[in-house]
Amino acid sequence: MRTKFVAGNWKMNTTKASAIELAKAVAKGAPASGVNVGIAPPFVYLDAVGQAIAGSAVWLGAQDCYFEKNGAFTGEISIEMLKDLSVRFCLTGHSERRHVIKEPGELVAKKADAVYAGGLVLVHCVGEKIEERDANKTFDVVRAQLDELQPSKMQDASRVVIAYEPVWAIGTGRNATDAQAQEVHHFIRETIAKKWNADFAAAVRIQYGGSMKPENAKGLMDQADVDGGLIGGASLKADSFLAIAKAGS
Ligand code: PGA
Repeated sequence: MRTKFVAGNWKMNTTKASAIELAKAVAKGAPASGVNVGIAPPFVYLDAVGQAIAGSAVWLGAQDCYFEKNGAFTGEISIEMLKDLSVRFCLTGHSERRHVIKEPGELVAKKADAVYAGGLVLVHCVGEKIEERDANKTFDVVRAQLDELQPSKMQDASRVVIAYEPVWAIGTGRNATDAQAQEVHHFIRETIAKKWNADFAAAVRIQYGGSMKPENAKGLMDQADVDGGLIGGASLKADSFLAIAKAGS
């Protein structure tokens, strides 16, 4: 059985003080078992947030990283630096990095490689834009984004998480329906079974992201192939994020 994983992606929000306050409230209220709970604050608050949740069951996460180990890469953050701050998981390929910051798939692929090779839990984000959905290209887009991952280099399914985040659902208040989410999650699991094998696919967790909130979390997470959520807006308030985490426990 897959333990659900509910992660908060704070994006470029909070101040140092509000990040610490939110982190403490999450650490205090997070279910101690039955679900993995994580929070990904901005890089500059990772250290403070890590200290605020120390000793709790909450995982510290990063929203991004760079694939090189060290050197002349101005502005970038390595996996070693993240591990130095007790980071457990790292996102790659979030829609805002792909479409707003224009990060190409080749770079996303190198980052995903580095996250896994560094021993962290990889949360690899995939998802189609509305025009791609309307053109019946959802599966093609998602398959291409899954192809950024190399099965030969990633054998521990407990450290590979896919976040299905339809771009049209992110931050719009318009979540995928339970059936729409399940359809793509099922496709993702089948694709992973072909790329890796059936056992690996059965163990991999597939989060849903895109306007998940307390009111829709249970319905989405009750779907057979939905193993948690990646939460943006609703993760910035402890009570709504904790309600979602409880819905997954
Ligand atoms: P949202 O963001 O919950 O605000 O839609 C989800 C995400 O981008 O991870």
